[in-house]
Amino acid sequence: MHSTGVTKPRRRIMCVGMCVLDIIHVVQEYPIEDTDKRCLSGYWQRGGNASNNCTVLQQLGATAVEFLGMLSASPAFGFLYEDCKKRNIHIENCPSTDMDPPFSSVILNKATGSRTIIHSNPGFPPLEYTHLSRIDLSIYGWIHFEGRNNESVLKLIRDIRAHNKQLKNPDDRIRISVDLEKMKEELLELGEAADFIFLGKDFAEHMGWQQPDVAVMGLYNKLKPQQDTKPVIICPWGAVGASCVDSEGNYTFVPSTPVSEIVDSLGAGDTFCAGVIFALYELELSVPEAVLFGHGVAGYKLAHRGYDDIK
Ligand code: FRU
Repeated sequence: MHSTGVTKPRRRIMCVGMCVLDIIHVVQEYPIEDTDKRCLSGYWQRGGNASNNCTVLQQLGATAVEFLGMLSASPAFGFLYEDCKKRNIHIENCPSTDMDPPFSSVILNKATGSRTIIHSNPGFPPLEYTHLSRIDLSIYGWIHFEGRNNESVLKLIRDIRAHNKQLKNPDDRIRISVDLEKMKEELLELGEAADFIFLGKDFAEHMGWQQPDVAVMGLYNKLKPQQDTKPVIICPWGAVGASCVDSEGNYTFVPSTPVSEIVDSLGAGDTFCAGVIFALYELELSVPEAVLFGHGVAGYKLAHRGYDDIK
């Protein structure tokens, strides 16, 4: 199947989830416990899955991008706000708190290309459904959720479905995607409410699915969707490639683009996800074509530090 080539008016893409501070150390090799070493380079940047998705979507040239999540209003971390503004990522619907943001200590190992993340979130308030009442759904074309906060996310999805139902033109409906990354089986409930699922490898393995094809078909058969059609499922499997199954049950495996040297693997999964959403929504590519596009974007990201150069 190929892109239709028909250009419809595009609406805003919103990604719902976390915005965190990433403190990154690049090391020659993984440190031995209880030693004192200097890193090759160190820096910090805005992170969090949904926040990274927004950065990449904006970088790829999406029509308009919004982040929705709890933000820290602590003056010391004002750069998280500033960075969103600088990149034209809308944040006007975000609630805020005076608490410091969650943060991650990240070790990027130059020798292997691995990224090790230690995440700290001492009680940062989650997004609640009450924070979402001001949202005017008519300006969105796609809403993507980080798999967390089932209760409030499911309520928002219910509102989106109700909004979609009353539209005169079905092409105007909001597409709903979820990123199932955290290894919590209760997140499957979010998958049952979505149109598109990004199934993380760790989550798949946690479910006992040891191969990408087994994972997507396992999830496809397990889910009892809340709407008429089954969700599209995409499961990236590291350097190997990604499996996908469309809503009719057609399975495809799309090998990934080889990368000669891994410079920065932090957020490569978020980059892939954003690349696929961009290709499906903005470019109207088919699922396998969009996955191939996502591989290209993630491959480029792996070879470059941060998200600035992504194209
Ligand atoms: C990368 C990332 C980081 C963040 C961590 C949160 O996928 O979003 O930016 O620190 O994961 O789990």
